[in-house]
Amino acid sequence: RLDHWIDRRGVEPVYLDEENGMWRLLDHATVSRVLSEPGTFSSDFSGLAPVQEDFEAFRTGMFLTMDPPNHRKLRTLVSQAFTPRTVAGLEPRIHQITEELLDAVAGQRRFDLVEALAYPLPILVIAELLGIPAQDRELFEKWAKVLFSGDQLTENSTMAEIEAALQMIAPTIREMNEYMLAHIKYHRANPSDGLTSKLCRASVDGESLADQEMVGFVALLLVAGHITTTALIGNATISLDRHPAAAAALREDPSGIPVALEEVLRCLPPFNELGRRTTTEVELGGRTIPANSIIMANIASANRDPRVFADAESFDFTRTPNPHLTFGHGIHFCLGTPLARMEGRIAFEALNRRYAGLSVARSEPVEFQNPAMIVSVRKLPVDVV
Ligand code: HEM
Repeated sequence: RLDHWIDRRGVEPVYLDEENGMWRLLDHATVSRVLSEPGTFSSDFSGLAPVQEDFEAFRTGMFLTMDPPNHRKLRTLVSQAFTPRTVAGLEPRIHQITEELLDAVAGQRRFDLVEALAYPLPILVIAELLGIPAQDRELFEKWAKVLFSGDQLTENSTMAEIEAALQMIAPTIREMNEYMLAHIKYHRANPSDGLTSKLCRASVDGESLADQEMVGFVALLLVAGHITTTALIGNATISLDRHPAAAAALREDPSGIPVALEEVLRCLPPFNELGRRTTTEVELGGRTIPANSIIMANIASANRDPRVFADAESFDFTRTPNPHLTFGHGIHFCLGTPLARMEGRIAFEALNRRYAGLSVARSEPVEFQNPAMIVSVRKLPVDVV
């Protein structure tokens, strides 16, 4: 599909996909424009999806799918607590969690890197961030799995299929809701330095976060911050396996890891596309798009636009600047970017320190997630020396 989009970008950067009635945008300038004009290109699809009562509770805090002014209010409040400083303060614990996870496979010459590190690390970090007691961390893993269980759906799934998927996960959503409301209540009564207490204290112009909004934000962290980071670690492992000279250079000089990870994010963004809905009729790329159309802003293709990236098809692990759109653009720009970057860096520093060599196992298959949902491995057997 990526090859198809890239070929098409040169001829028709904005086109209507007849198969599903969605508009696809393929070039960097148009994708950036769409992501920076929330008034015309809305993130709110609530009128189009079936209403599911249990999810409605979460929607109050899911500002990813909100437009201004509600988005601004919630994002500003959450940003007061979820600051780059809060994230930086977590660095020693992320090191420790990474080491503990890798200790569990110490001595094994072959293991699944997803199961050992890439999958559990981001959930444990989110749980740590929120101050979830160690004995309840398994619950987090369970919820994260369930929240992602719509991965069998595709952009062509019917409403009935979407509704059936939502029904299946409803009991877990209720459980998560109850648990998190109790967790927040506890932190209101027993304030600490952790993110949950900071969220409770956040206040802008006399407004603060309601408990239900905080629960929605936690669900958002699990949806937006877990499997994406898994994807980054898995995709980076695959990229370095394909580019042994880059892997050797980073082993020699780990200070290049952050720049190399940006190139992985450019070439293999976890989300190929971001969806938007037009609020009005609009001209894009010489085409007239009607109001209420679904737009897919194609990051994967924009990230390889030769008007922005020299030698766009090559993996250049030293590429700077690297204005990829993998973390989005505009008002919804990923709030977890510093955390994702830090987790990726710590994971590769730790792997470098432990192993003189790490390669994707040739005799066992690598398994991928449903690419319509996320560009990520599901299973990644690696050989280490
Ligand atoms: C938003 C990508 C990791 C939290 C976004 C958006 C993208 C993105 C593309 C914008 C979506 C849109 O405009 O519709 C990624 C990638 C990650 C990553 C590629 C990892 C490699 C994280 C992490 C967290 C996080 C670790 C937190 C734990 C968020 C939040 C938003 C968001 C809260 C909503 C921002 C808003 O709507 O204002 N992310 N993300 N993300 N991300 Fe991330």
